[in-house]
Amino acid sequence: MQKNSRIYIAGHTGLLGSALVKKLEAYGYTNIITKPRANLDLTVQSVVDAFFKETTPEYVFIAAGLTGGIIANKTYPATFLHTNISMQDNIFEAAMKHNTKHAVFYGSSCVYPRECPQPMKEDHLMTGPVEVTSEAYAAAKFAGLKACKAYNNQFGGLRFIALVPNSMYGPNDNFSIENSHVLSALMRRFHDAKVEAKPSITLWGTGSPRREFIFCSDVAEASIFAVKNAGSLENTFYNIGTGADCSIKELAEYMKEVTGFKGSLEWDTSKPDGAPKKLLDSKRFLSLGWKAETKLLDGLKTTYEWFLSSADKRL
Ligand SMILES: NC(=O)c1ccc[n+]([C@@H]2O[C@H](COP(=O)([O-])OP(=O)(O)OC[C@H]3O[C@@H](n4cnc5c(N)ncnc54)[C@H](OP(=O)(O)O)[C@@H]3O)[C@@H](O)[C@H]2O)c1
Repeated sequence: MQKNSRIYIAGHTGLLGSALVKKLEAYGYTNIITKPRANLDLTVQSVVDAFFKETTPEYVFIAAGLTGGIIANKTYPATFLHTNISMQDNIFEAAMKHNTKHAVFYGSSCVYPRECPQPMKEDHLMTGPVEVTSEAYAAAKFAGLKACKAYNNQFGGLRFIALVPNSMYGPNDNFSIENSHVLSALMRRFHDAKVEAKPSITLWGTGSPRREFIFCSDVAEASIFAVKNAGSLENTFYNIGTGADCSIKELAEYMKEVTGFKGSLEWDTSKPDGAPKKLLDSKRFLSLGWKAETKLLDGLKTTYEWFLSSADKRL
């Protein structure tokens, strides 16, 4: 990837897409292509094809997607399935037709079985049923991982690179009540409780489940690393994680520290905990020489600073 290569970031306004733009600009890439959703609906094949014909991107990062929390996934499974499959599929086809050198696709850890052994290895894919609440989203991600492999197999080379990051967080995350993931939802709740000077916050479960969170700019770095080292990659997908998990209780304590909430924490143990642990085994990607740099507490501080200063955040 040359400094003046044409690089298209699909989903540049989102959590990962914005981190990719920032990182590529910081590295001195000068020809970054973005286009807002209002002018480029990636679910419409003819529109995507015309855009690729006009811009002929040499590299594409497919950070566009429909993401959401449990409620949104449960309420709109067909929308999650259709939107994600159509966006990724339209880009795959256009990238093929217009000779994109490499396109990076992002799966999700929810492709792994609900009862997956921990840490979750790439080989655990399709070894058991996935979590039912995110089944439709997982199906789209699964199709994307397999599509990358199929295009590479059928047409030769490694045009499509598939990465599976664990839960991401950072600036430009979604902090809305209905659509956010656990980390941004907690940050929002702690912030609101601080502003309203609440004496306590009640959280679901025991706080013992362990989760792995990765800062968006580390995933951006991993993506650029993957493109630069495409010659060392196999035609498969790679887990992208920090290798370290943390309990929800520890995360809540960090949130107290970062947001400055002074009240107490209470745990409603009558509510379900969810899976006890969700940690990726990222050894395959780590063995290529990449590793996540951002410590969770540092990433949370950066995210909260952005949250406080950003006027147009997703609430
Ligand atoms: N967040 C995570 O924890 C996580 C973990 C693993 C994998 N992933 C995957 O990584 C990718 C990026 O996730 P993210 O969290 O950065 O998502 P995000 O913050 O929700 O951003 C999604 C981006 O996609 C764009 N988009 C949505 N529908 C579109 C459409 N029809 N046409 C054009 N653009 C459209 C959005 O544009 P608007 O700004 O206009 O809405 C936004 O820029 C997704 O594929 C996601 O599944 C995410």
